[in-house]
Amino acid sequence: MLISGTGSNLVAIARAVATGELPLKITLVASDRAQAQGLARAAEFGIATAACPTRDYATRAAHEAAIAAAIDASGAELVILAGYMRIFEPAFVARYAGRLINLHPSLLPQFPGLHTHERALAAGDAVHGTSIHFVTAQLDGGPLIAQGRVPVRPGDTADTLGARVRLAEHQLYPKVLGWYAHGWLRLVGDTVYLHGLPLAAPVVYDLAHAP
Ligand code: GRF
Repeated sequence: MLISGTGSNLVAIARAVATGELPLKITLVASDRAQAQGLARAAEFGIATAACPTRDYATRAAHEAAIAAAIDASGAELVILAGYMRIFEPAFVARYAGRLINLHPSLLPQFPGLHTHERALAAGDAVHGTSIHFVTAQLDGGPLIAQGRVPVRPGDTADTLGARVRLAEHQLYPKVLGWYAHGWLRLVGDTVYLHGLPLAAPVVYDLAHAP
């Protein structure tokens, strides 16, 4: 698993693993930021961690090669991006084709990139949310698997809305990773298959009553 920040999604996933609800083993949590709070949280769960700060590498390609080497040495079969704030070069994406899953805090294709909560508020949207997708070379543009929708409430700030989106993420990401762990979820070409059937659209969960 790759993270850059607080690691609240990492904690939600690690808890689901610990309770047996999510049948996978987290072999490694790696971060491009040595100070990422998520690294310490991973260690509390007894998960192996690695810090790979970009300044230690001459090029982006060298940095990604080091991360790939750490992932492969851990024996990981799936690469889970949970708040990893860097964009990969095509070689990294190709290496993990169909085994690289990302979480993005908007209802893609709306608001790829940064500051998604601010942008949803500025657009006056009544509904916002989170998306889980396979990663391809296109930024935040890979095939969608699932989305969690949350309401935008009067008086929301980017912080209150972001907190609601995170809550949705904490419920949705372990669930979707479970589909993969069970062998129910696969990417073939650009098509997502769930239970052997192609997904015409992402599976959508409405968290209308989210606080
Ligand atoms: C999440 O909102 C995710 O969608 C985005 O970064 C955030 C990571 O949060 N890519 P955390 O580090 O898991 O708390």
